[in-house]
Amino acid sequence: MQPLILAIDEGTTSTRALAFDLNGGIVASHGVALTQHYPQPGWVEHDADEIWEHTLASIQTVLAEVGRVAAIGLTNQRETIAFWSRASGRPLAPAIVWQDRRTADITARLKAGGQEPAVQAATGLLLDPYFSASKIGWALAHWPAVAEAAARGDLAVGTIDSWLVWKLTEGRTHISDATNASRTLLMDLKTRQWRPDLCALFGVPAAALPAIVPSAGALAETRLFGAPIPITGIAGDQQAASIGQACLSPGMVKTTYGTGIFMLAHAGAAPPISRSRLLATLAAETDAPSYALEGSIFIGGDAVKWLRDGLGILHTAAESEALAASVADSGGVTFVPAFAGLGAPHWNPRATGMLTGITGGTTRAHIVRATLEAMGMQTADLLDAMAGDGVRPGVMKVDGGMVANNWLCQDLADATGLVVERPRCIETTAMGAAMLAAVGAGHFADLTVAAAAMVAPDARFEPREGDRAGRRAAWAAAIAKVLA
Ligand code: G3P
Repeated sequence: MQPLILAIDEGTTSTRALAFDLNGGIVASHGVALTQHYPQPGWVEHDADEIWEHTLASIQTVLAEVGRVAAIGLTNQRETIAFWSRASGRPLAPAIVWQDRRTADITARLKAGGQEPAVQAATGLLLDPYFSASKIGWALAHWPAVAEAAARGDLAVGTIDSWLVWKLTEGRTHISDATNASRTLLMDLKTRQWRPDLCALFGVPAAALPAIVPSAGALAETRLFGAPIPITGIAGDQQAASIGQACLSPGMVKTTYGTGIFMLAHAGAAPPISRSRLLATLAAETDAPSYALEGSIFIGGDAVKWLRDGLGILHTAAESEALAASVADSGGVTFVPAFAGLGAPHWNPRATGMLTGITGGTTRAHIVRATLEAMGMQTADLLDAMAGDGVRPGVMKVDGGMVANNWLCQDLADATGLVVERPRCIETTAMGAAMLAAVGAGHFADLTVAAAAMVAPDARFEPREGDRAGRRAAWAAAIAKVLA
């Protein structure tokens, strides 16, 4: 029987486990939605115990269906940071989610103090509350249970890969893969080691941090499910999606439309430095490190979720496709979904969302269409920034839950003027984790061989000429109002 790889994809809004065969087929899957906690405006928290319980239940459900798996690959929402006790293995506080803006003052102060160029040179990142470091510093300053654990040497801190590996190994292993570590503002992008100077800058006790490990290999082993299962691949979800899209050589670009929108352009073997307010990040570390330029947009599918759960104008997210197609245009409505500030290329943590152009004739179909159109407009802004850094792709590969929507894919092509390519498996994040784990377990020589066996294209969307310039001008005017 062909070996199966179990991919765990712990995203912002759901946790999934999927069993892949070595041809890229999904043999079984299970997913559970994750509770979002918004204790104050701009704050977003997760319960680390709930993340673990959902992960465990998803793995158990898939294993019950498929029996044995040869290896586990893990991928996760990045930057979100968990705090737990080494002694008890229990969380000491809520996990602070990547979208959380509570540390905007901290990063603004450091920026005003002129720290950003040195931080960018060391880490590839910018000073924004998005990343983990200021969240860790804030937790130590505001949550006594976290500070007390640090004082007695009991504090463990980690991104979600770290937390899940700790739980899967019953506390034997405290690691973080280098792609996840590259999102903390604490890791030197060249050496892939924690920087003591950055730990000091953000008030992070280095002793609480995990060991940084590569993305593939014999990384850990779980004994919770009968016979031991090796964990042989780990990567942050956007890096995993890039791998799952076979973006393995310089200049290749993928954009994932999940909770947020994340565009990664492979940049080769040396860390790039952006001149256009993009991020430099680790793409993967297998035999050697590879790097990427990234444009991060904080709100993508979350905007459609808000139409459904916040406004109540959609019953299901899938309904947005027919509604957007039911009107000729957005009727002059523009929606900037800046629910968590604005990310690339604006980096304004205080920005809030805005709907403009509403008249008495505006219907829910117009608002839904404007929401979907915002995805294309945000993508086009990222592509302009990429062009500023010399990246001009001919094709953009897309994935994530939203791209099941054909109307959206066509609009992405129309809005950007690029051919948009969708793979057969839009669970590319999980696919990338499975590919890393398959390479790490020795089933394939490298990621290129894994991609040839597992990744296949599905549909292409050719750009149509329309009023692209007019749409972009209306969008730019709306962004200017949001930033004013
Ligand atoms: O950087 C945040 C990102 O990793 C979250 O991804 O898929 O949950 O939107 P997603």
